[in-house]
Amino acid sequence: MARSLRVAPEYIEKVKSALRRNSYPSLQKFAEDVNPSLSTVKNFFGGIGIDYENFREICEKLGLDWQEIAHKEPETQPPKPQSTNGEPSPFITGAPITQPRYFFGREKELKRLFNLLKRHPLQNAVIIGKKRSGKTSLLHYLKNITTTPAQQLRPEQKSDWLRHPENYRWIFVDLQDARMQSRENLLKYILESLKLQVPTPCDLDRFMDVVSNNLHSPTVILLDEIGVGLQRCPELDDGFWESLRSLATNHTGGNLAFILATPESPLELAKSTGHSSPFFNIFGYTAYLGALTQIEARELITSSPIPFIDEDVDWILTQSCCWPLLLQILCREKLFNLEEGENNDNWREEGLQQMKPFC
Ligand SMILES: Nc1ncnc2c1ncn2[C@@H]1O[C@H](COP(=O)(O)OP(=O)(O)OP(=O)(O)O)[C@@H](O)[C@H]1O
Ligand SMILES: [Mg+2]
Repeated sequence: MARSLRVAPEYIEKVKSALRRNSYPSLQKFAEDVNPSLSTVKNFFGGIGIDYENFREICEKLGLDWQEIAHKEPETQPPKPQSTNGEPSPFITGAPITQPRYFFGREKELKRLFNLLKRHPLQNAVIIGKKRSGKTSLLHYLKNITTTPAQQLRPEQKSDWLRHPENYRWIFVDLQDARMQSRENLLKYILESLKLQVPTPCDLDRFMDVVSNNLHSPTVILLDEIGVGLQRCPELDDGFWESLRSLATNHTGGNLAFILATPESPLELAKSTGHSSPFFNIFGYTAYLGALTQIEARELITSSPIPFIDEDVDWILTQSCCWPLLLQILCREKLFNLEEGENNDNWREEGLQQMKPFC
C-alpha cells in the first residue's frame, strides 16, 4: 500500500493560517513554489490524503511540524461494500481489518468487552493473542462498530452494543508508531483526539490536569502493541504508567478505560522489563484470541461474492483450523481461481504455500 498522509481535521485551520503567514495569496501561488502539483496542494489543504513525501515537503515549506498535523490513524479499506467486477477482493490478508463489514466473529469476546464498557465505572481489559491472530482488527472493531451506519455493515451484523454510542470517545494508539513513543507526542495526541486544549509544554502534570478537569464522557483508550511501549520506549516510564492508572482509577469519575492488545501478558512483560508499574494490575479481564468458531469461520467464507462448493468450504475450514488470516488467504485463492474461470484445484496448492509463513 502506498504511504499516504492527510492533515488531521483539527489542524486544517492551522495549515490555512500558515499559508497566510507565509504571505501566499492563493493555493496556486503556493503550488508554484513547491514540487507537488496544484491538485495535490489542494488535497493537502482539503484534508485529503497525499503522498508522504509531498506531505513532508508542503509542511516544510509552510514551517509546520508534519508529525504534529498528520492524521494518526490508518485508512486501509474502502468504507463501502465493493462489487467484485475488478474491484478489491472482499478478503483482506495482512493489514488489520479497519472497516467493520470485513470483520467476522469474536462474538464472545465482544460481548465481554462491551459489557465492561457499557456501565459505570468503565473497566479495563487486555486482549492477548499470538502474532496475526487479529488483535489490532478487534481494537478497530470495538472503536467503530457502534457508530458505523447500517448501510456500511453486513445484514445481521450486530452493532447495538452500547446504549448511547454517540457519547463515547475512542482513541486508538499504536505504540509501534515511532511518533507515539515520545511521551509528549503521545500525550498531545490523546488530548487532540479528545478535542481538549493542549498545554505548552505538554508534560505529565499539565496533561493530568487537563484530562481530570475536562473528561466527562465515557472514553476508551485502545493501546495496541503495549509490549513495544514497555520494551523500547524509555520515555514511557513507571511515572508515566502510574499517572495513567491514577487517571483511570481516581480522576475521571469512572469515565476512562484502557484496552490493551499484546501477544504476551502485560503483567509478565512489565516484570521482565523491570517495570514496577501497578498500571498493569488494573486489568480485571483478559480476552484470549484463538481461532474463530466453525460458525464464525463459515460466515467469513460465505461472504465470498461467488459461492464456494461445500467440498471447498470444508477443505478451507480444515486447512485453516479457523484462524482468521489463514481463512482469508485460502478464500482469496479460491475466489481468484473462480474469477479466472479456472476449473481446477491449483488454488489449494497455492493457498497452502501462501499460508506457510503464518502457520
Ligand atoms: N475478526 C476477523 N475477521 C476477519 N479477518 C480477520 C479477523 N481478525 C484477523 N483477521 C485476518 O488476520 C489478519 C491479521 O489481523 P491483525 O493485524 O488484526 O492481527 P494482529 O494480531 O494484530 O497481528 P500482529 O500480531 O502482527 O500485530 C488480517 O489481515 C485479516 O486477514
Ligand atoms: Mg497488530
